[in-house]
Amino acid sequence: MKIIRTSVELNHWFNEHNIQINKSLGLVPTMGALHQGHASLIENASKECDLVVVSILVNPTQFNAKDDLDAYPRTMDADAEIAKAAGCNVIFAPTAEDLYGGKPKAEHMDWGSITHSFEGKCRPGHFDGVIAVVDKLFGVIKPNKAYFGAKDLQQVAVVQKMAQIRHPNIEIVSCGLIRDSKGLALSSRNIRLTNQGLKRALKLSFALSNVVENTSAGTSIKTAVDTARKELQESEGIDLEYFNGVNCQTFSPDDEPFDWSHIVVAANVDGVRLIDNIEIEVVG
Ligand code: PAF
Repeated sequence: MKIIRTSVELNHWFNEHNIQINKSLGLVPTMGALHQGHASLIENASKECDLVVVSILVNPTQFNAKDDLDAYPRTMDADAEIAKAAGCNVIFAPTAEDLYGGKPKAEHMDWGSITHSFEGKCRPGHFDGVIAVVDKLFGVIKPNKAYFGAKDLQQVAVVQKMAQIRHPNIEIVSCGLIRDSKGLALSSRNIRLTNQGLKRALKLSFALSNVVENTSAGTSIKTAVDTARKELQESEGIDLEYFNGVNCQTFSPDDEPFDWSHIVVAANVDGVRLIDNIEIEVVG
């Protein structure tokens, strides 16, 4: 596995090896702090593509709080081991200045609810940064397929829209959310949780699965969501941002329960911001 640190070096390497002509290329964009969720994306990419590039960049334009950016874990050596074991051929780890071609900046994008509701509302400017960095990565790497985790459900919708508009030849592959043995959705932020935080964080996935269980037992989806939301709002150490049913294509807060495809949650748990979601049966 090769580690490449600049866009120029990456282009040379592609040209030397005739990569973009002869081989199918899979990209797994990441901000590092890789875990088994990322490993599963890389494994999927390596099953489907001749060559897998994993990008690692803690992208400054998608953070709306400087302390969140500073606290984001940076674990390059461990990342390289995980990426290699999962089938990565090249790690592309540029500086933000290299990738953006100067001071990193992101244009404001308004694609309605998918950029401005839920995550877009709680983290203003977040999707502007995601769109900017993924657009740059697609431009430099020109993959055939790019792999994203379904934990970031709204990000998948935003990236799909961006690809449709700017990179119609790149297929966006959404891969299943991976949980630990207790049910916690894997996230690079989990390593910032204390033991107490880890226990509290589990309440998010319990709340999601309770909705699914209660609706299977006959409770209406709206009542099940309202009940689970109230329980989370009353839980110590959990500062709930949202707990809602959504349609994963529109993310419109006005969608009716029969349009919902998922329940999504975001909360600060002992000061660490976590998101999670679960797919639901369409109500009908
Ligand atoms: O999901 C992430 O880790 C990031 O948002 C991404 C897609 C790598 C862009 O920086």
